[in-house]
Amino acid sequence: MRHRATLIPGDGIGPEITAATLRVLDAAGAEFEWDRQTAGMAAMEEEGTPLPDATLESLRSTRLGLKGPLTTPIGTDFRSVNVALRKEFDLYANVRPAKTLVPGGRYQGVDIVLIRENTEGLYSGVEMMVAVAGDPRALAQSVAVNTRYGCERIARFAFEYAVRHGRRKVTICHKANILKLLSGLFLEEARTVSKEYSGRVVVDDIIIDACAMKLVLDPTQFDVIVTTNMFGDILSDEIAGLVGGLGLAPGANIGAVGALFEAVHGSAPDIAGKGVANPSALMLAACMMLDHVGQPPRAARIRAAIERTIRDDGIRTRDLKGNATTTEFTDAVCRRIG
Ligand code: NAI
Ligand code: MG
Repeated sequence: MRHRATLIPGDGIGPEITAATLRVLDAAGAEFEWDRQTAGMAAMEEEGTPLPDATLESLRSTRLGLKGPLTTPIGTDFRSVNVALRKEFDLYANVRPAKTLVPGGRYQGVDIVLIRENTEGLYSGVEMMVAVAGDPRALAQSVAVNTRYGCERIARFAFEYAVRHGRRKVTICHKANILKLLSGLFLEEARTVSKEYSGRVVVDDIIIDACAMKLVLDPTQFDVIVTTNMFGDILSDEIAGLVGGLGLAPGANIGAVGALFEAVHGSAPDIAGKGVANPSALMLAACMMLDHVGQPPRAARIRAAIERTIRDDGIRTRDLKGNATTTEFTDAVCRRIG
């Protein structure tokens, strides 16, 4: 079945890794009908806004998107396009899987999916400064907001994800010992939801600081982790670091009616246009998109091809200490798809 989807190639290395990703999707026979749109700097230059109405309209109609990284224009009062898209489409679940692909690294056998609440918590955007700047008595406040509704739906998302993807365990990560109300509500809701999954998914909970330490000591003890916005932001970068960095880290932003898939990394202006970017993260994001639209066999074929190219063929881009160009790596992945 063909799925209509919005394609935003993005800035910097975005167009290069997007072209590479389209090639592997084609090789695997994935059928998307792409509606190509712009955002970020590319849109700023062409249309004077980083998030054109046409792009929003396209996403409203397709409710499905693949997005390259966007350079956030500095020195303007435009909000981050990524945050604007998350809010506009209520993409409340940020899913970030991380798996060891490169042999010989510090950690082997890591296979973690971090599920982060994407709209609440300390990133609610409610901030205030009490007293004028420069005042020695100045006091800054940021209001963290967790709702029972928001906690319940992210917890349910995590357990459903675990069941659908055959995962063994969900770890609820919190700070309810100190933030008794804010994090307590999240822990309470997540535990309540977990009861519906008893016998199907193992559940445990852990305090955020202990979680950060245990991840470094032995990441293989974790499977799915569900947590609130800021904890998830920090842990997901830590976890990406455990498996070799940004070139391999995909992410999905998922809401009740829409989903947007992207790499975790940015537009990498330092290597843009040089043909050396690692397209794996966006390719893996496209695999998550295939899972999402009900084509897991195609996703599995592409994932296996990426893994074999990196692990068995030793064909790697510079960020993974190889010397393959983006095109050479993509050729190799397409050959592996066969
Ligand atoms: P970045 O992720 O673009 O780059 C950090 C470092 O990682 C650079 O040395 C870069 O060359 C390298 N790198 C990143 N992706 C790579 C890949 N696929 N292959 C090989 N090397 C890779 O982060 P930075 O430099 O902080 O941000 C650049 C721009 O990207 C900024 O304008 C920022 O706002 C934006 N950004 C956008 C994101 C998004 O659209 N989702 C996410 C993060 C940053
Ligand atoms: Mg972050």
